Amino acid sequence: MRTSIAIDGPAGAGKSTIAKLLGKKYDLMYINTGSMYRAVTLFAMKNGIEPNEIEKLCSLIDELEMHFENDDLIVNGVDVSKELTNIEVTNNVSRYAAVPEVRQKLVQLQRGISKNYDVIMDGRDIGTVVLKDASVKIFLTARPEERATRRYEELIAKNVKVDYNSILEDIKKRDYIDSHREVDPLQKAEDAVEVDSSLMNIHEVVEAISKYIEEYKNRA
Ligand code: DC
Repeated sequence: MRTSIAIDGPAGAGKSTIAKLLGKKYDLMYINTGSMYRAVTLFAMKNGIEPNEIEKLCSLIDELEMHFENDDLIVNGVDVSKELTNIEVTNNVSRYAAVPEVRQKLVQLQRGISKNYDVIMDGRDIGTVVLKDASVKIFLTARPEERATRRYEELIAKNVKVDYNSILEDIKKRDYIDSHREVDPLQKAEDAVEVDSSLMNIHEVVEAISKYIEEYKNRA
């Protein structure tokens, strides 16, 4: 049976950093599902397709061949990772991610990958929808203030002018949207282990989650 590790949690909890490290440690393919929603948003916007144009959106997704190479998302042969975090995509992705038909298509793709590879997948609905039978389910959280501080320091280090309070507000707004949308809202799966990283560094979080992965490997 294939190994699948599900990591869900709010924006800025450190899911992708931790999942990449665990992917390397345990030789798992890292699947960043947020970047798949971002890619759909990027290409929909490039083609002038609005979230309510369901048929156009579905045909667009059918034309996007997505796979991951070295943790990066490749769409139709092009590495689009840099474009996926631009501000227009970030500001619009939750509108496209709320469309049930978009979710259905991406969930199908994500399940397909997990059938062919051992994966560590991060997102909002991995343990509850995409990989209900995941080998290990983690719900990674941190207090909003802590997540805002991390984001603030990351941007300051890149010489980007930012305001802490607006980052905090943005994080709280995204939390609300992600956990209150009608389809597949962010919630902890009943059988997920909650890891609160507020007072932990990256190494400590990796160690904490590794413990659950090791337990699974010993059982399997
Ligand atoms: O993790 P992220 O910020 O890159 O996610 C981008 C958006 O996609 C965010 O609005 C939440 C949404 N998302 C989702 O609805 N389901 C997922 N499995 C992953 C992300």
